[in-house]
Amino acid sequence: MNTPLRVALLGLGTVGSGTFTVLRNNAAEIERRVGFPIEIKVVADLDTAKARQVAGPEVEVSANAFDVVTRDDIDVVIELIGGYTIAKQLVLAAIEAGKHVVTANKALLAVHGEEIFAAAARKNVMVAFEAAVAGGIPVIKSIKEGLAANQIEYVAGIINGTCNFILSEMRDKGLPFADVLAQAQALGYAEADPTFDIEGIDAAHKITLLSALAFGMPVQFDKAYVEGITKLTKDDITFAEELGYRVKLLGITRRTSEGVELRVHPTMIPAKRLIANVEGVMNAVLVKGNAVGPTLYYGAGAGSLPTASAVVADIIEIARMNAAPIECRTPVLAFRSEAAQAIPMLSIDQVVTAYYLRMQVADRPGVLAEVSTILAKHSISIAAMIQHQPSQEGASAQIVLLTQRCVEGEINQALAKIEALDSVLDKVVRIRVEDLS
Ligand code: HSE
Repeated sequence: MNTPLRVALLGLGTVGSGTFTVLRNNAAEIERRVGFPIEIKVVADLDTAKARQVAGPEVEVSANAFDVVTRDDIDVVIELIGGYTIAKQLVLAAIEAGKHVVTANKALLAVHGEEIFAAAARKNVMVAFEAAVAGGIPVIKSIKEGLAANQIEYVAGIINGTCNFILSEMRDKGLPFADVLAQAQALGYAEADPTFDIEGIDAAHKITLLSALAFGMPVQFDKAYVEGITKLTKDDITFAEELGYRVKLLGITRRTSEGVELRVHPTMIPAKRLIANVEGVMNAVLVKGNAVGPTLYYGAGAGSLPTASAVVADIIEIARMNAAPIECRTPVLAFRSEAAQAIPMLSIDQVVTAYYLRMQVADRPGVLAEVSTILAKHSISIAAMIQHQPSQEGASAQIVLLTQRCVEGEINQALAKIEALDSVLDKVVRIRVEDLS
């Protein structure tokens, strides 16, 4: 009756040690929820001295995760190592051995999810990954369970805390991107190699998973459009404010009559939206369902205990469902696997959105008319405009335009013509604008 669920914890870094702490400190409360204890049977880490320090004298420490994942006395494998190679081999070996798997590894699931979920379905085991998206925010359980009545219309999220911290500091303190990135690295927010964060790849992994969960379709990271924040300037953030907007790195996935959009890019959002006011390293995810309307989930997107909160919630779900027949469990990807649909994925050219355009132009008569004529020929309507007086006579001027919504392919054609004008002195800066109303 009170047989414990036996778990193996692979990787005792930030999230692994947080998971150990939460399971130990909240053990009594967790048992009241589950009905039996969750026992950490073994922890595995190459650094056994560090693992021993975290785990204390009573828990077995192993340097060989491959031995651990196939052991008969393990029910659930918690993969908190990260990366694609060893982690993938361990997860597949654990599944093959009939173990349930909990992982926080968004990169692994976004890229190799189809293979991993298919293996899990064959072996009738659960793969749970709440911690892979937005750290401690239970957005995956919200989509899988709380919003299960809905057709999801879109998901839009601030799902990379490093980028949100950088954008918040650029706006608050008027600092350039490079300075704030250095600060984020010094504070330990950004990785030593911050490419996955600032180039939008981490956010794309996460929105790819949310897209599959929201719409009941395969995990398709290769279909995501990804643009990071490295080219954003103080000028753009200031102009956005002047127009009543904030710039955020958003992961967006939306179902339209033509197909599904899947994209990550800097996005201007009206400053009055709640999500526009999410600052620093915090995350927030907006999910719109056709019955519930818009819902917003906010919290810590990273960190030891917040991420552990999500990992342990998954262990608890597995503890509750372990004995249940497969058809009684919540499906791994929210929809029954046999009901997954291959919905057409839209390319970024097919996306419909509004645009902020900033251009450096010669300050002479007729320039604005040339630009607006090209936009008009592509049926692109101007919604707002800013031009400040140049600092001195004869200097070039900056024009900032906000367009109405149009197809990205049209704006691309229009921008190619605008950039070819003699009077337009540089590449046009473009930021997509989402109303999220
Ligand atoms: N690097 C991520 C972020 C944290 O900055 O949000 C873990 O997903």
